[in-house]
Amino acid sequence: MRRILSGIQPSGQLHLGNYFGMMSRMIDYQENNDLFCFIVNYHALTTMQDGKLLQENTFNAACDFIALGLDPEITTFWVQSDVPQVTELTWLLANITSVGLLERSTSYKDKIAHGITPNMGLFTYPILMAADILLFGGEIVPVGKDQKQHLEITRDIAIRFNNIYGNIFVVPEPDINKTTQLVPGIDGQKMSKSYGNSIPIFASEKYIRKQVMSIVTDSTPIDESKSIDTTLFQLYSLFLNEAEREELADRFRTPGLRYGDVKKELFNRIMDLFTPFREKRVELEKNRGDVIAILRKGADKAAAVAEQYLKRAREVVGVNYC
Ligand code: ADP
Ligand code: TRP
Repeated sequence: MRRILSGIQPSGQLHLGNYFGMMSRMIDYQENNDLFCFIVNYHALTTMQDGKLLQENTFNAACDFIALGLDPEITTFWVQSDVPQVTELTWLLANITSVGLLERSTSYKDKIAHGITPNMGLFTYPILMAADILLFGGEIVPVGKDQKQHLEITRDIAIRFNNIYGNIFVVPEPDINKTTQLVPGIDGQKMSKSYGNSIPIFASEKYIRKQVMSIVTDSTPIDESKSIDTTLFQLYSLFLNEAEREELADRFRTPGLRYGDVKKELFNRIMDLFTPFREKRVELEKNRGDVIAILRKGADKAAAVAEQYLKRAREVVGVNYC
């Protein structure tokens, strides 16, 4: 069994990009693999300074994952800060990580470009992420394309640590799916919780409809054929199999297609897929205690694995002096 591991920030409402880029793939993996899945609230601190909101978002992210089908009986599911060993490993790794490696992080540069004033947490974010993965021996890490460089940094850190101290850590492989690696938002840019361009899975039906109807389209006249290299086509394709996608492509190429009609169909597809999960989520939200108990149990399981890796790391770097 392979150890498959990934995390998500509790930084806002879960959207189609998160679902297709990472969450649904994690959930598909859980049957035949050893799945580790966590909510990275320490990472969220790099951009959030509202404690109450972070608490609420963390609980919400847990409900999201469980409602979507993550099965805590077979998957180790926890909140990052419940296994604080990760912060100690972050420190050990920080001391073998060059500043230059972090300065090349495009995610860091992007966030600054979007107006975030950088703090040291944001700068060292990739080291905490490396610790997240190495502390649990993650072999395969399902993520969207935006995390590719973070995975490369993790690999660099693991290889460097192993070169200096001996083979302690598993060097992980990213698992990025070509068709879902970069889900566009309604404005055609990458869909993101923080860009206001997302289609959130658990928002009100009214809001989801509004977002779908606002997907950018071009001004090609109705009686001309439409391009399939568009946001609307890409978003709709997420819900289709190969044959259905071909059919949609034909409809786009045939003059007469109205974008408004396609948007309504897409909205229906979204609701068809997610309505059962939305209903399950309402139930979960009512049982706060149960959800918290699941997370605590997951943290205990995760901590047992973390302890093993951390103990070896402490020994080889020499802080375990007695
Ligand atoms: P966001 O960018 O919305 O804040 P996160 O950084 O929490 O989302 O990402 C959680 C997971 O979802 C990561 O694996 C990330 O790569 C994936 N993901 C986020 N946005 C997209 C997207 N637009 N397309 C594909 N995957 C995405
Ligand atoms: N940086 C990831 C994101 O924003 C979240 C994350 C933190 C993560 N630690 C991780 C993903 C470990 C995979 C493995 O999406």
